[in-house]
Amino acid sequence: MNYKIAVLPGDGIGPEVMGEGTQVLKQIAKIYGFGVELEEGIVGGASIDAHGKPLIDSVLKLAKGSDAVLLGAMGGPKWDGLDYSIRPERALLALRLELGLFANLRPVKLFSALASASTLKREVVEGTDLLVVRELTGGIYFGQPKGVTMLPDGTERGVNTEVYTTPEIERIAHVGFQAALRRRKKLTSVDKANVLEVTELWRKVVTRMHKDEGYAGVQLEHMLVDNCAMQLIRNPKQFDVMVTTNMFGDILSDEAAMLTGSIGMLPSASLGGKVGMYEPVHGTAPDIMGQDKANPLATILSVAMMLRHSFDQGAAADRVEKAVEVVLDEGYRTADIQEPGRKLVGCKEMGRLVREKIEDRG
Ligand code: IPM
Ligand code: MG
Repeated sequence: MNYKIAVLPGDGIGPEVMGEGTQVLKQIAKIYGFGVELEEGIVGGASIDAHGKPLIDSVLKLAKGSDAVLLGAMGGPKWDGLDYSIRPERALLALRLELGLFANLRPVKLFSALASASTLKREVVEGTDLLVVRELTGGIYFGQPKGVTMLPDGTERGVNTEVYTTPEIERIAHVGFQAALRRRKKLTSVDKANVLEVTELWRKVVTRMHKDEGYAGVQLEHMLVDNCAMQLIRNPKQFDVMVTTNMFGDILSDEAAMLTGSIGMLPSASLGGKVGMYEPVHGTAPDIMGQDKANPLATILSVAMMLRHSFDQGAAADRVEKAVEVVLDEGYRTADIQEPGRKLVGCKEMGRLVREKIEDRG
């Protein structure tokens, strides 16, 4: 087998963490005997600087023509003043939409070596293992009407619209139910059905599917988003799979990330189309860019998700995840997860250590 992978490092620490991720990918391909053809594309702020817009056609074509996309991060203060329509983040939204990636999987699993790196108490976070299934191509991120208009009195009016149709809810709920069936068989559907009609529909559709579509084996619960935000830090172990809207998923997944000690640990997979896209949940961290301080583990764990979901290489994915666990167990830490008495390493060294452990397990 030979896989084509579009590599889009983006901005800030993107290129640094991507360097470690692609080295792991090449190493794994060699060990497991499949080919990887990596082709790099320029996106986000870097693309604005080079081409005047965050995503050019040839890069979109590269992504569409690949078997999977590995993405770094996009954005930074340098481009914050630009019009919304050409901000770096637009490239990410366009890629999600154009590739049809409606299902975003964000596993939140605490490596036990990091139980005390979280700002929350060890006994609260230890054993956390949940999956956020976030709807990714609908809701308020894409709903019409949107925009800012000038009113006759000289003030302005800003609008975004939260929209979900039955089919959009059904397809993401299926992903949630099926993920729950493969795990601990509990699904929490998160909404704001006490206020927002659109999520009242969400709740109705999910409830009907539970009854009518063969998901009786899943324990379904509905939770309001404000309560969910609270429950996540009160008792995260109550969650198995959580399915929610685009914006609620954006917010809750950042919150859930802190249960694992650092957002620098969280990988993600965006699925639903022909091509899967894999990226760390963290952003571009401009404050530490170019200093070899970034945590490459989220990107390396995203490579593991690519191996599992796009290439059906479960054993290879397990091996990468195990290597990360061993490195953490041995006490190596990047700055974001550093604690007294641990060995502080940079981005490159962390990547090298993971590759060493991958090799060791041969
Ligand atoms: C994420 C990010 C993006 C989002 C931004 C960068 C557009 O926060 O992937 O969670 O809001 O979806
Ligand atoms: Mg986010």
